[in-house]
Amino acid sequence: MGIGLVNLLVIILGCLVAVCLTISDDSIARFNVLDYGAVGDGKHDDSDAFTRAWKDFCMVDAQIAVFHIPRDMLFLLKPVEFSGPCKARKLDFQIFGDLVMPKMEYWDDKDKGGAWIFFAFVQGLVMYGNGHVDGQGSDWWVDGGERYRPTAIIFHHCSYLQIHGLKIVNPPKIHIKISRCSNVRFSLLHLTAPESSSNTDGIDISHSINVDIQDSFIGTGDDCIAMINGCSNINIANIACGPGHGISVGSLGGHGQYDTVEGVKVTNCKFTGTSNGVRIKTVPGGSGYARNITFENIIFESVENPIIIDQFYSYAGSKNQVTPKNKAVSVSDIIYKNISGSSLSTSGITLHCSDAVPCTGIVMDQVNITLHNTRHRTNKIYSDCSNAQGHSTSTFPPVQCLQE
Ligand SMILES: *[C@@H]1O[C@H](CO)[C@@H](O)[C@H](O)[C@H]1NC(C)=O
Ligand SMILES: *[C@@H]1O[C@H](CO)[C@@H](O)[C@H](O)[C@H]1NC(C)=O
Ligand SMILES: *[C@@H]1O[C@H](CO)[C@@H](O)[C@H](O)[C@H]1NC(C)=O
Repeated sequence: MGIGLVNLLVIILGCLVAVCLTISDDSIARFNVLDYGAVGDGKHDDSDAFTRAWKDFCMVDAQIAVFHIPRDMLFLLKPVEFSGPCKARKLDFQIFGDLVMPKMEYWDDKDKGGAWIFFAFVQGLVMYGNGHVDGQGSDWWVDGGERYRPTAIIFHHCSYLQIHGLKIVNPPKIHIKISRCSNVRFSLLHLTAPESSSNTDGIDISHSINVDIQDSFIGTGDDCIAMINGCSNINIANIACGPGHGISVGSLGGHGQYDTVEGVKVTNCKFTGTSNGVRIKTVPGGSGYARNITFENIIFESVENPIIIDQFYSYAGSKNQVTPKNKAVSVSDIIYKNISGSSLSTSGITLHCSDAVPCTGIVMDQVNITLHNTRHRTNKIYSDCSNAQGHSTSTFPPVQCLQE
């Protein structure tokens, strides 16, 4: 009897352990690209191996799926598409090794203009690691070079997306683009391209909600971060930006479009040697709004146009458009607080608003922009302002349109 009971207990315990092991086995599923034939010598095309690894990673029915790119290796990838929906509850994407794009001459025409790595319809992807991504973009930047240039990484229709610690250098065009995404968190990114490389935006956001970008370095040939259209609840904090064109809302309303951006917070950011600092740009003839936008605790160092709202923005192609004079994207409830630093141009604060749709609710508090001392020894800094309504306190240079 006694032995029977002990045996029974052992069997029950054994079963429990087996069940636990089975659960833990099932709960983490790992997919190493080397197991799919990736070579990682920087010469061999590893895209097929990555695509097949992704397929298994995405289809596995586990608690956690891990996509593993091993360290100390360099993987050459052609344009690849990683689509969901995936089955695992948590999707870890480990980039420990380095990735490299093919040089321009090796791109097929049909792939130009899109993305190098395209993620779509993935929920819960967490990308991390210290791998570098090299875009080898210099051939695309030259004058008269290719018009249709690929973006390094696009996230489309992704939710609960996180990236921590990714380094991207020299993409042909934009570093990272997110469109139709929600609940996005990026941190510790390092995005760089030379100041002279055109259209190499750091991060472009469109049609997305709840996006958090923090603790990152972005130095490029265009906007560090651009909120293009359809953005709401965007939080940008602790970004070092420069060189580049600054952090931009817009341009909104191009081609007569209805565009919207609202609920943006840009805090604790430093701009060094950028052509703009914090900028809102809208194209005449469009409609929609840019509203409820706060810039707080900002430092400028040698920035050409530190604070700028431009409702008369034109880009190549929009200049010859006939634009109705009574239409503009409205700009309202914009707060500038605790902002200081140096301007390269004499116009430290520029508010160019239209008389048809004036900017309203513009608030400046503790803003102090001084002239960078290597230029303009005799000139004075000023604010250039038209059709802006609101108020200012402790603001230098004083803004005539705003009540004190
Ligand atoms: C303004 O935007 C913030 C997010 O930055 C949001 O929490 C707040 O509710 C918005 N306020 C209004 C009045 O929409
Ligand atoms: C003003 O901004 C600077 C720079 O970001 C920051 O160090 C400082 O703490 C801020 N001051 C207040 C009162 O928040
Ligand atoms: C504005 O900044 C300049 C340069 O840093 C400084 O000398 C000046 O005292 C500041 N003014 C105010 C009102 O803080």
